[in-house]
Amino acid sequence: MAFFSRWFDRAKILGLSGATDWHSHILPGVDDGVADIQSSLSILRDYELMGVKKVWLTPHVMEDVPNKLPDLSNVFRQLRESYSGPVKLCLASENMIDSLFIDRLDSGDVLPIGERGEMLLVETSYFSAPMIFKEAIEKIRSKGFYPLLAHPERYAYIRSVSEYKELKNMDVKFQLNLLSLAGCYGRTAKEKAFELLSLGFYDVFGSDIHHPGQTELLSRLSAPSSAIASLEDIAGRIR
Ligand SMILES: [Fe+2]
Repeated sequence: MAFFSRWFDRAKILGLSGATDWHSHILPGVDDGVADIQSSLSILRDYELMGVKKVWLTPHVMEDVPNKLPDLSNVFRQLRESYSGPVKLCLASENMIDSLFIDRLDSGDVLPIGERGEMLLVETSYFSAPMIFKEAIEKIRSKGFYPLLAHPERYAYIRSVSEYKELKNMDVKFQLNLLSLAGCYGRTAKEKAFELLSLGFYDVFGSDIHHPGQTELLSRLSAPSSAIASLEDIAGRIR
């Protein structure tokens, strides 16, 4: 227990204190994230220790996980009623750009993200670009949102800086996955994360947390003995 407390103390001093986590799967029982409300509350207690100020709950919405807005809102209301701590909870969704995406967008079955609901969090397959990628980006813009691409460093099909730049030129916002910096998704994703960070391409960061065991990893990212940049450095470079 002392070990964990030490990491949390460092995190509070160095990194996540006052920060917003822009990506999480802690809405219980709706996707491959936390299974029950006890796990959600456990993560939120750890977030309190780390000083996290606000967290966006971003459950998956995709063909295999066809969450509907009213159902997500209902579970969100139950979680808020069960949690009385200081971390501010906000609901959005992580939208897979798949064959049903345009229909979902057209019917308004999406939950935007951002202070003014100005962005839409999207993801794609890790291995190949969606056939409708550019069409989807233009469609999102036409609806008045900025696409916020989750974990751009993890997509194997985006190989060069110029390809990332092309997306930035299409008004796509980038969301760093913090655990990429720790090498949790392999060496290539880690190297790309640091390169995109050095280029100033990231707009926000998120944990993409799926279970309580990952909070220790998040707090370790802030440790001064770590080989990676502290979250304080990162937070200074991106919003
Ligand atoms: Fe996610």
